[in-house]
Amino acid sequence: MTGKTETTFELTDSASGRSSQLPVRTGTIGPAALDIAALHKDLGVFTYDPGFGATAATESRITYIDGDAGVLLYRGYPIEQLAERSSFMEVAYLLLLGELPTSRQLEEFTGNIRYHTMLNETLLRFFNGFHHNAHPMAMVSAVVASMSAFYHDTMDIHNPRHREIFSHRIIAKLPTIAAAAHKHSVGQPFIYPRNDLDYAANVLHMVFAVPCEPYKLDPIASEALDLLFILHADHEQNASTSTVRLAGSTGANPYAAISAGVSALWGPAHGGANEAVLAMLEQIGSADNIPKYLAMAKDKSSHFRLMGFGHRVYKNFDPRAKIIRAMCHKVLARLGRSDNPLFELALRLEEIALKDEYFVSRKLYPNVDFYSGVIYSAIGIPRSMFTVMFAIARTVGWVAHWQEMISDPLMRIGRPRQLYTGPTRRDYLEIAKRA
Ligand code: SDX
Repeated sequence: MTGKTETTFELTDSASGRSSQLPVRTGTIGPAALDIAALHKDLGVFTYDPGFGATAATESRITYIDGDAGVLLYRGYPIEQLAERSSFMEVAYLLLLGELPTSRQLEEFTGNIRYHTMLNETLLRFFNGFHHNAHPMAMVSAVVASMSAFYHDTMDIHNPRHREIFSHRIIAKLPTIAAAAHKHSVGQPFIYPRNDLDYAANVLHMVFAVPCEPYKLDPIASEALDLLFILHADHEQNASTSTVRLAGSTGANPYAAISAGVSALWGPAHGGANEAVLAMLEQIGSADNIPKYLAMAKDKSSHFRLMGFGHRVYKNFDPRAKIIRAMCHKVLARLGRSDNPLFELALRLEEIALKDEYFVSRKLYPNVDFYSGVIYSAIGIPRSMFTVMFAIARTVGWVAHWQEMISDPLMRIGRPRQLYTGPTRRDYLEIAKRA
C-alpha cells in the first residue's frame, strides 16, 4: 500500500550544502505525509518527534480522525451515523472487512463469532491462580497471552484462513475472559456464554447472571453497552493500537500482540481514564469543590489532571463524548435515575472547565472516557471493569489493524531510532581506581 506521490520537499543542509529530495505522499483525506526514508542516508540525520505527535507510522484505510473538526470515520462512515443506526457486530464486520455487510454476510459473521464464545476448560482454571483482588485487566492481559498456548491450529500469521479464525476467536472470547475475570474477583462461579443472546447481552449475562436464579436481561443496558462498544471499537493509531502493530510486526503470535494492546490500554492516560474519571468525580464530591480541583489540574506540581479531559488528536469536542453525553441523559431517564449525582457533577465540571482560560487556550475538551463511566455505573458494571469493557470493544480495532499490517507485503519490523545524549566513548576503570 503506498499513498500517491505528486510532489517532493527539498531539504538542504546549509552547512554542507547536501540536500535530500523527500517525496510527499498524499492520502484520500487528511494531511499528506513527508516520506523521510532517505533522510538519514542523504543527510545523516533522524527526525525527532517524541510521542509521535506529527509522525505517520503507517498507511491505513480503517479509521480517519480530524481532530480540529471533531470528525471520526470508520471506513468512511461517520461515527454519529453508525452510533444511530448500526450494531457492534455490524461495525466489527465493517472495520475488519472494509464494507457494511449484507444481511447474509452479517448473519454468517455473527454465527462465526457465536461459534467461538466458549473458553477451553483448562484456560478457565488459569483464573484460580490469581489473587481474588487482582485487577481484571491484569487477568485479561495474562489469559489473552495464554491463548497462544491453546490455539496452536491458527498461529500461521501468513495463512489468511488462520488469521480469519484467530479474528473470530479473539473477538468471541474476549467477553468470556472478561466476565470470568470479574466472576473470579467476586468469588462467584463462571457463567458460560449463551449463544442465543447478542454480543452485548451475552456480556451482561456472563457478568451478572448466577446459577441459582434466572437472570433478567435489561434491554436498555444491552442497548447502551452495544452503543458503547461501537464508540470504542477503533481510533486510528492510538497508543494501544500502535502497541499491537509494533508487537505484531516482529511476527509474534497474534494473541501475544493483542495482549500487549490490553496492557497498553490499561494506563490512566489511555483506556484506564474511564475508571479514573469516576474516582475523580467521587474525590471532587460536589460542585462546590470544582474550583479547587480545577486549580490543582492547572498546577503542574500537583500531578493532578482532569481525567477524561484532553486528547492528543481532538482539539475540539471528541465526537464520541458528545454521543455518550446524550446517551447518559437517555439511559439514566429510561433507568429512572435521571438524578444521577455523578452525572450532574460531570456536566457541571464540563460547563465550568470549558469557560476556563487554561482549558480553552489548550483546547482541552471532554474525551470518550469522560462520560462513559457514568453509563457503565448506571447499568451496574463495576468500576474495575470499565477499562475491560473498553478492551472488549477495542479488540475489534486491534485485530483490524493487525490484519491490515500482516497482510501488507511491504510490512517490516518496527524499529524506531533515537537522539543519543548519553556519555561519549570511555574506557573501563578497575574498581580500585574509581573514586
Ligand atoms: C483515550 O489516542 C487516542 O485516540 C486515545 C483514545 C482512543 O480511543 O484510543 O481516544 C482513548 O486514551 C482518551 C484519553 C484518555 N486520557 C485521559 O482522559 C487522561 C487525561 N488527559 C491527559 O492526560 C492528556 O490530555 C492526554 C494524555 C489525553 C493527551 O496528552 P498530550 O497530547 O500529551 O497532551 P499534553 O500533555 O501535551 O497537554 C498539552 C497541555 C499541557 O499543558 P502545558 O504544558 O501546555 O502547560 O495541556 C495540559 C498539559 O499539562 N493538559 C491537561 C490535561 N490534558 C492536557 N491539564 C490538565 N488536565 C488534563 N486532562
